[in-house]
Amino acid sequence: MFAKAALLMVLLCAASAATAADLADRLRDDSELSQSTAKSLRRLMPVRFYSLLESNAIANSTLSLRSCTIFVPTNEAFQRYKSKTAHVLYHITTAAYSQQNLPNTISSDMDGNPPLYITKNSNGDIFVNNARIIPSLTVETNSGGKRQVMHIIDEVLEPLTAKSGDSDPISNPDALKFLQQAEQLNLDNFNVRTYRNQVTLAKKESVFKSPGTHTFLLPVDEGFKLSARSSLVDAKVIDGHMIPNTVIFTAAAQHDDPKTSAAFEDLLKVTVSFFKQKNGKMYVKSNTIVGDSKHREGVVLAEIVKANIPVRNGVVHLIHRPLMIIDTTVTQFLQENSENGALRKFYEVIMDNGGAVLDDINNLSEVTILAPSNEAWNSSKINNLLADRKKLRQILNMHIIKDRLNVEKIRQKNANLIAQVPTVNNNTFLYFNVRGEGSDAVITVEGGGVNATVIQADVAQTNGYVHIIDHVLGVPYTTVLGKLESDPMMSDTYKMGEFSHFNDQLNNTQRLFTYFVPRDKGWQKTELDYPSAHKKLFMPDFSYHSKSILERHLAIADRVYTMKDLVQYSQESGSVILPTFRDSLKIRVEEENGRYVITWNHKKINVYRPDVECTNGIIHVIDYPILEEKDVVVSGGSYLTESTICITLANLIMITVAKLLN
Ligand SMILES: *[C@@H]1O[C@H](CO)[C@@H](O)[C@H](O)[C@H]1NC(C)=O
Ligand SMILES: *[C@@H]1O[C@H](CO)[C@@H](O)[C@H](O)[C@H]1NC(C)=O
Ligand SMILES: *[C@@H]1O[C@H](CO)[C@@H](O)[C@H](O)[C@H]1NC(C)=O
Ligand SMILES: *[C@@H]1O[C@H](CO)[C@@H](O)[C@H](O)[C@H]1NC(C)=O
Ligand SMILES: *[C@@H]1O[C@H](CO)[C@@H](O)[C@H](O)[C@H]1NC(C)=O
Ligand SMILES: *[C@@H]1O[C@H](CO)[C@@H](O)[C@H](O)[C@H]1NC(C)=O
Repeated sequence: MFAKAALLMVLLCAASAATAADLADRLRDDSELSQSTAKSLRRLMPVRFYSLLESNAIANSTLSLRSCTIFVPTNEAFQRYKSKTAHVLYHITTAAYSQQNLPNTISSDMDGNPPLYITKNSNGDIFVNNARIIPSLTVETNSGGKRQVMHIIDEVLEPLTAKSGDSDPISNPDALKFLQQAEQLNLDNFNVRTYRNQVTLAKKESVFKSPGTHTFLLPVDEGFKLSARSSLVDAKVIDGHMIPNTVIFTAAAQHDDPKTSAAFEDLLKVTVSFFKQKNGKMYVKSNTIVGDSKHREGVVLAEIVKANIPVRNGVVHLIHRPLMIIDTTVTQFLQENSENGALRKFYEVIMDNGGAVLDDINNLSEVTILAPSNEAWNSSKINNLLADRKKLRQILNMHIIKDRLNVEKIRQKNANLIAQVPTVNNNTFLYFNVRGEGSDAVITVEGGGVNATVIQADVAQTNGYVHIIDHVLGVPYTTVLGKLESDPMMSDTYKMGEFSHFNDQLNNTQRLFTYFVPRDKGWQKTELDYPSAHKKLFMPDFSYHSKSILERHLAIADRVYTMKDLVQYSQESGSVILPTFRDSLKIRVEEENGRYVITWNHKKINVYRPDVECTNGIIHVIDYPILEEKDVVVSGGSYLTESTICITLANLIMITVAKLLN
């Protein structure tokens, strides 16, 4: 009587303690733990699992009589598991393993003894299948030569089971049996018939039979809606869907860590990696690094539609389309991703803009798209812009390149330098920078003042590539100062403006600036042309001189001047006079072969990067400073005259400096 009451108390106590944190507290407080009795294990077990265990005669007696390891899901884990049937014996193995001694595979006590897989991730977390062992909550007991270990885990372990009512249930199938008898298994109504047929045709059963522990990726039937697609699944493609000798459960997967697939040899190299989208969905991607005539290079993404199905020789993930197969155009890819995919928002914006951009893309035989992610569109500045159809069209066009441009090609285009690429938007170029190698490479792209990072590169299509980026190009989010500060091409002009305090004004958002910024290469050229003058320009002692030179490059007005504006005014009246801090800058701008050229004082200066938009102005990156010999040679001062619109104020300053020094 008394014992029963005590047990009831224990259970009530356990029932009230719902969370893992509570359990940790109880473990700390529990004085009985030192006695290490089997009773204390029962006492400490989260109640949801304990009630299941008690009602299973085998499990209950194992806990009473045998050494064992029990993986016990927290009560919260059971809450998430909801209506599904939990399999107690799948959580038990009849040998005691502390955390350090867990082998890579363990036979569970369920019928057929399907294995459990133990993996560790780079954080040192230990996983059993897809469940993480909560490290501080392991309890070990030892009585009468019987050792028992309880590991608390954050997810209920889900074995592969046959559909109920099946007369001849398959127990503990390997991946081949899985594939052959998928219709009899509980797979949430997913089917793999098409893929299975291709495996049979290609006589690749051995891949799925292979003993050991592997990861298998199986495309479901929905992934073969394009009728010709299934015929592209050949022996090599089947190899590319298997990661040999590694089991990867999604919770334990290292994201963006390419693994060698079974298709990895001299003439064909395919890696596979796991990653997660911002919306939480898990994906796999294949990257064909070395391709052949039948297997094109590039990345293919596939959403995992049912993850973490354990089989005898590893784990199976069902994916929504086959990897490696590149059989859609860029347009088709955008359409495929239009509903809930990674490019939903991009597609929506194109359609809201009238859809013509999509026709343009469709008409290009070779095309590369920089597609902003869904999150990239989420800013008020962009929302304001959506109403301006014409401007938006230009911005969308800025994301389209008439070329087949993958990272390897960008790399070759400009080793260690920034590669410049024209876009469909006339006169707008994109600038690429690749740093690092292989999967560690960081690719940035700059367009219309925005520096975006490629978050998913080289998604291959029949007519080109899609790179997913984290910002919408052409919609500025930084001031002229912010841009100067961060842009690797403008660092000399930035430095000069810093020590001469010229830059101070450039963060002012009440002004509108048009700034002609000589790129670093431009200043390097002046070094060759006027070595000593160049030196002085970069000496803080002569900062007044530097400042006056920079002032000539900066127009301040109630508007900004794009290159198109400047060309138009030059055509209308022969030249443009722009207001600068001291006086004015008279230039003429022409378009020659798709490039802008400034003529100033009979000198021609190429515009390297026009129209870098900022929140308080616009920057035109130029190939050479607006500078002439007079500026930098100490000579008798000639003040501004009609014929020399260019002011030679600098001379005056040099004289002043010379006087001061005397
Ligand atoms: C489970 O085992 C405990 C301890 O041996 C025992 O008291 C209890 O009656 C068993 N429960 C069931 C349902 O058999
Ligand atoms: C694109 O192709 C369509 C037909 O496919 C055609 O009507 C249209 O004029 C083309 N547009 C361009 C810009 O070539
Ligand atoms: C967009 O931004 C809002 C507010 O900053 C945020 O609540 C929302 O989750 C964001 N949406 C996406 C898709 O990032
Ligand atoms: C872009 O330039 C091409 C060739 O110079 C011209 O035919 C086309 O009309 C221009 N497009 C726009 C939108 O200005
Ligand atoms: C983008 O900004 C980063 C950080 O300032 C810089 O390293 C990179 O070169 C920039 N990319 C381009 C293409 O300008
Ligand atoms: C420029 O202004 C922004 C806010 O408008 C501020 O965050 C930034 O720190 C300023 N930069 C400098 C260099 O003062």
